[in-house]
Amino acid sequence: MKIKIAPSILSADFGRLAEEIRMVEEAGAHLLHIDVMDGHFVPNLTYGPLIVSKCKEITSLPLDVHLMITNAEERLDSYLDAGADYLSIHAEAVIHMQRTLDYIRKAGAKAGVALNPATPLNALDWVMEDLDFVLIMSVNPGFGAQAFIPSSTRRISEAAALLKLGNQPVEIEVDGGVGPANAGELAAAGATMLVAGNAIFKAGNPAAVVREMVSAAESAGSSR
Ligand code: DX5
Ligand code: ZN
Repeated sequence: MKIKIAPSILSADFGRLAEEIRMVEEAGAHLLHIDVMDGHFVPNLTYGPLIVSKCKEITSLPLDVHLMITNAEERLDSYLDAGADYLSIHAEAVIHMQRTLDYIRKAGAKAGVALNPATPLNALDWVMEDLDFVLIMSVNPGFGAQAFIPSSTRRISEAAALLKLGNQPVEIEVDGGVGPANAGELAAAGATMLVAGNAIFKAGNPAAVVREMVSAAESAGSSR
């Protein structure tokens, strides 16, 4: 599977959001990661469907919307209508996971389950057929610029082995503390979608970081 780089706008300069998005698009990013936080499931509050639909106007990159919210089931339509192409819900926050994934897919978007660092991977066992991607959190969600939790690399390898038991390909996204320094090892472990906020948007030359991540991940991923 081709590696996709997904810059997270959480670390972008919101006064210049359109420019920031165009810059990562031109640099070769594959997706735009949008972190929706409700101040309840996670201790931080960000943005909602209005920003998602604005991003849709600004870019032709697919929008990867990460819902860190409770009651996600009741809010799916607003994110789907706003233009989410990939939509992930947290296993810890959703009661009817299979129904929710099925709903996202039937609406024409890619359905993903996000797992906090301490959530067992077997939460995926009975939804493998309903999934397009799994989002492995490599920090506890809520904030950008946190340190990568080292055991996440092994978690990705284990998730990759588990997902091979299913009868369809499932992408593995990794989110939190990711950048050029660990892009290669994460791709080698089986990650196919790399989210990076701080490492890209706070860099002196963000476009160079995107290119560096693409090449590190592609050379490691192809040697798998
Ligand atoms: C954290 C978010 C991440 C965040 C990653 O809760 O889900 O997407 O933007 O930020 P960095 O890459 O700065 O760790
Ligand atoms: Zn995220």
